[in-house]
Amino acid sequence: MSTYVLMRILESAPSRYDQGLRILTLGRLDQVYDRLASHVEQGQRVLDLGCGTGALTLRAAHRGARVKGIDVNAQMLEIAGARSEEAKLAERVELCEMGVAEIENEAAESYDVVMSGLCFSELSEDELGCALKEVRRILKPRGILLVADEVRPGSVWKRVLAALVRLPLVLLAYVITQTTTRPVTDLPQRVENAGLRVESVRLSNTATLMELVASKPRAEGV
Ligand SMILES: C[S@@+](CC[C@H](N)C(=O)[O-])C[C@H]1O[C@@H](n2cnc3c(N)ncnc32)[C@H](O)[C@@H]1O
Repeated sequence: MSTYVLMRILESAPSRYDQGLRILTLGRLDQVYDRLASHVEQGQRVLDLGCGTGALTLRAAHRGARVKGIDVNAQMLEIAGARSEEAKLAERVELCEMGVAEIENEAAESYDVVMSGLCFSELSEDELGCALKEVRRILKPRGILLVADEVRPGSVWKRVLAALVRLPLVLLAYVITQTTTRPVTDLPQRVENAGLRVESVRLSNTATLMELVASKPRAEGV
């Protein structure tokens, strides 16, 4: 629960990121990512926002997609590159050191799938709003958005519990990395506000991790 805030610490030691992630989430994140990646089809063009060491990128490439993974952390990208070589997926994977804000340079309606794992919670409110609008623009009609991220629970007592567990972890992560994450609020509503249709939402038992699938309508208003 709320251990996602510790990702910031793991990001500062990329070589230990994958192992640390598995331990912190007790392998649950792997299941979430497997479920999300199962929406990806052979030959599709996929963009992974904040791809890190390639957890979602490689899953999509395994399914036969051509994937562009973007991230601001060069060390994480280096590991993603080595993993894609090792898995013999390098020819289907393109990795770019760039920020989410730069997707404004991607061509309109050029991706079948945009995916993001635990990156939206590292963006500011403004960045996230802009990113979602850009995601709509660059998705092909009927293209899909796949997200797994830390969210703020809807129920008051789960919110209080999450905040209590989160606070010491936030402080620890901040002392070590001078950065923090914030659970995303109202993710389904924000996705709808950006003009996408939410197809499914699944929450963890603690209501702190959300898996969301959304699609871009075929044509305006359809
Ligand atoms: C918690 S990690 C998740 C990495 C990967 N998606 C995963 O699930 O293993 C968040 C990633 O988002 C990246 N990130 C944060 N802000 C970003 C931004 N504005 N643009 C691109 N990447 C960003 C970080 O560098 C980091 O690699």
